[in-house]
Formats: sequence, structure tokens, C-alpha cells
Amino acid sequence: MRVLGIETSCDETGVAVYDSEKGLLAHTLYSQIALHAEYGGVVPELASRDHVRKILPLVQQVLAEAGLTGEELDGLAYTAGPGLMGALLVGAGVGRSLAYAWGIPAVAVHHMEGHLLAPMLEANPPAFPFVALLVSGGHTQLIQVEGIGKYLLLGDSLDDAAGEAFDKAAKMMGLGYPGGPAISKLAEKGQAGRFKFPRPMCDRPGLDFSFSGLKTFTLNTLHDSAGDEQTKADIALAFEQAVADTLAIKCRRALEQTGSHRLVVAGGVSANQRLRQKLDAMCKKEGAEVYYPRLEFCTDNGAMIAFAGCQRLVAGQQEALSFGATPRWALEELDAI
Ligand code: KG4
Ligand code: ZN
Repeated sequence: MRVLGIETSCDETGVAVYDSEKGLLAHTLYSQIALHAEYGGVVPELASRDHVRKILPLVQQVLAEAGLTGEELDGLAYTAGPGLMGALLVGAGVGRSLAYAWGIPAVAVHHMEGHLLAPMLEANPPAFPFVALLVSGGHTQLIQVEGIGKYLLLGDSLDDAAGEAFDKAAKMMGLGYPGGPAISKLAEKGQAGRFKFPRPMCDRPGLDFSFSGLKTFTLNTLHDSAGDEQTKADIALAFEQAVADTLAIKCRRALEQTGSHRLVVAGGVSANQRLRQKLDAMCKKEGAEVYYPRLEFCTDNGAMIAFAGCQRLVAGQQEALSFGATPRWALEELDAI
């Protein structure tokens, strides 16, 4: 089955074609980072308009790369949520309409299910069941995954998501958006041990997260410091270490609690090298396997949506002719397939 995937939930227009037998045939991504950079974050209305401008040329491009016409596809998958309402509606409206015009079924995909399944696009895909850590700009969740659509939420962020904490801390330091890569780059020049940041909520049981305290701690540390470049780099490193440590501690607990020996890590923050090092070391110690998407599929992309949609279409799921978007949508509400 050949499926076109469309992702427009936030500031990235991603389009891809996935073939259930041959794998990924083509994928492309247009990032709006430059458009939003001067505002220090995503401006929803600008995001929607830019998706409108880019979506059809990108669809034409991937079809040409895959050597296919729309009618030769077997299905179309679009992100229907969670995300920005206007941005989602562009992908859903265009996706549903193209599927109608081409006479193929369409399926609405949950953005976080896309992230969660992204490691399955790699050569050594994880087998079910596993524990998943989803770390993006909007989510920090630990999930027990029994199969596609069989999700049990083990832990969630009580306030800021991990990616959001990176973005806010970067803003305080005068770094650009998105903050994750900017903090990592600065942290490379940092000296370890100069600042000690807290590991929030690790001294009590449970798998929930809270990153807003780290944000305040960063602000106070910046205020109390000289503000020179080396100090900023040291703070960036201490912040990154605290986030990575906290996530690794909770992942170890989740593996222990579920008795699982497989950990899947996905979402924008899973591109973070320090986090990967911590998780690799923790999993090695615990005798567990850890799986990540390739770097370009950690952040938003069309390939993960084409893949997730393909699994659901193969299982017979498809949408009626109407379409909608669900800006707030819990993973646990999905149907199992
Ligand atoms: O998954 P994603 O592209 O979009 C959402 O679904 O939210 O994640 C974006 C988030 C941003 O907060 C960004 O700062 C963070 O992922 N991010 C990173 C890195 N690359 C992206 N955070 C830490 N380290 C990175 N290398
Ligand atoms: Zn995402």
C-alpha cells in the first residue's frame, strides 16, 4: 500500500510517500523557522498561511520524486491533531480534498502517534510491547505501548513540556528559536560542574514531569551571574544536563515499573545528543534496548504521518468525506488496530 502523508500541525510542512512493502519512497520538508524567528516563537496565523503557500508544491515534488501520480496512491494520511487549529485545517482540508479527487481513502493521524511510530521507519524497528518517551515542544509523556492504538499514559508533564523548557530557557539567554538546538550548541562550550541545577520531581515516586521550576532556576541563575559568554555556556550545559538526567531517571523508573526491556524515544527533543548519551548509558546498565528515529525524523515530518496512516489504512480505518481538526487530543482516545 502506497500512502501520501501530510504534516502541518505547527511550523513545518512535511510531505512523504510511504510504501508498506518498499519503505519510504520520497519525503520533503519545508521549515518555517526563519518566518517565526523574529517573533521568538511560532505565530499561528503566519504558520497557517505559509502552509497554504507550500503544501501543494511539496505534494507535487514528492509525487515526482516517487515517480507516482495521485491516482496511483492507495491512500492519504494527514495530521488532524494535536496542534495549531489553523495549521491543522490546512493539511486536513487539502489532504481530504486531494484524496477525494484521486478517489483514494483518507485517514486522520494523531501527531504524537506519528512521532511514537517514527523509529519503525529505521532498519532495526522496535517490536511491541515497549515503553515510549515522547518529548516534543508540546508534550513530555511516558507511555506503555502494547500495539498501535494501545496506549497507556504512565506519566505526563504537569506544566511545560521538555521542548518548551528548552525554548523558554533559550529565549532568556538571548538565543534563537527553536531553543533546543541553540542551547545544545552553546552547551558544547560549557564547563561542567560550575552550576548545579535541580532534577525536578525525581525525589518523589511517580512518572510525571515538571519543567517550569527549571525555567525559573535558569532565570535566577542568569540574573545572579556576570552574564558573560562563558557563564551563559556553563548555564546552558547545566540546564541541558538537568533535563537529560530527569528524563533518563523517569525512563528507568518506567522500565522498572512495567518490566519492559525496550525503550522508544521520539519527538523533537529526542534529537538531543546529551539526552541520547544518558539514555544509552541507562539502558545499557538496565539491560534494555533503546530506539530513536533518525535525526531528521525526530522533529516534525511527513514520513512519520505517512507511516502511521499506512498502518491504520491497512487495518481498514478511513475517514468519511467530512474533515476536521482536533487541537487537543489525548493519545489514549485512539482506537486500537
Ligand atoms: O516534535 P517537534 O518538532 O514539534 C512538536 O511536536 O512540538 O519538537 C519541537 C521541539 C522544540 O521545542 C525544540 O526546541 C525541540 O523540539 N528540539 C530540541 C532539539 N531539537 C529540537 N530540544 C533539544 N535538543 C535538540 N537537539
Ligand atoms: Zn511534533
